[in-house]
Amino acid sequence: MKRAAVLLTIGLLSGCDDMIVQSNAKLYDPEAGRVHPAEETVPWQDAPEAPPPLTLALIERGQQRFRIDCTPCHGELGDGQGMIVQRGFSPPPSYHIARLREASTRHFYDVITHGYGAMYSFADRVAPRDRWAIAAYIRALQRSQDVPTAELTAEQKQALK
Ligand code: HEC
Repeated sequence: MKRAAVLLTIGLLSGCDDMIVQSNAKLYDPEAGRVHPAEETVPWQDAPEAPPPLTLALIERGQQRFRIDCTPCHGELGDGQGMIVQRGFSPPPSYHIARLREASTRHFYDVITHGYGAMYSFADRVAPRDRWAIAAYIRALQRSQDVPTAELTAEQKQALK
């Protein structure tokens, strides 16, 4: 029950995407004024593929999933120096190269879904919503390695010296 209600709220909040509203609308029974009991356990897998609203919770979820599924190759910082790479697996590019900094968030989602070159697809392991969460976390990682010094506090600048 809880999970369906959450999905419904997400759908309504991001009302700009009709698809989301529609796909969740069927879960809502306006006469009964509640989420349809038959749909109580909506699996994560069925979450809409449009990007959910960017929230801290989403990024934290992405961090958690990234650490499980992606760091073995991409490394904690996304620099492509994960444990498996250090043992000889072909290294992925760093997320901090210009091309990937400029890539769309959707590109990360698509790479997780379909794989990319030597990297296999994670579609069967990472549900659509978690792909967005991971993509949002990669954006945060990129940002963390590329903060203009003008935006740093005096303390942070000192720490870099
Ligand atoms: C087993 C190692 C491995 C794992 C695990 C892995 N990747 Fe990769 N990834 C690679 C390799 C290798 C490449 C480079 C592929 C190529 O260019 O042929 C790559 C490339 C990428 C790229 C860059 C695509 C581009 O445009 O160049 C992204 C983004 C990416 N991976 C995201 C992820 C995410 C997100 C996860 C976790 C869900 C993940 N990867 C898990 C090995 C891995």
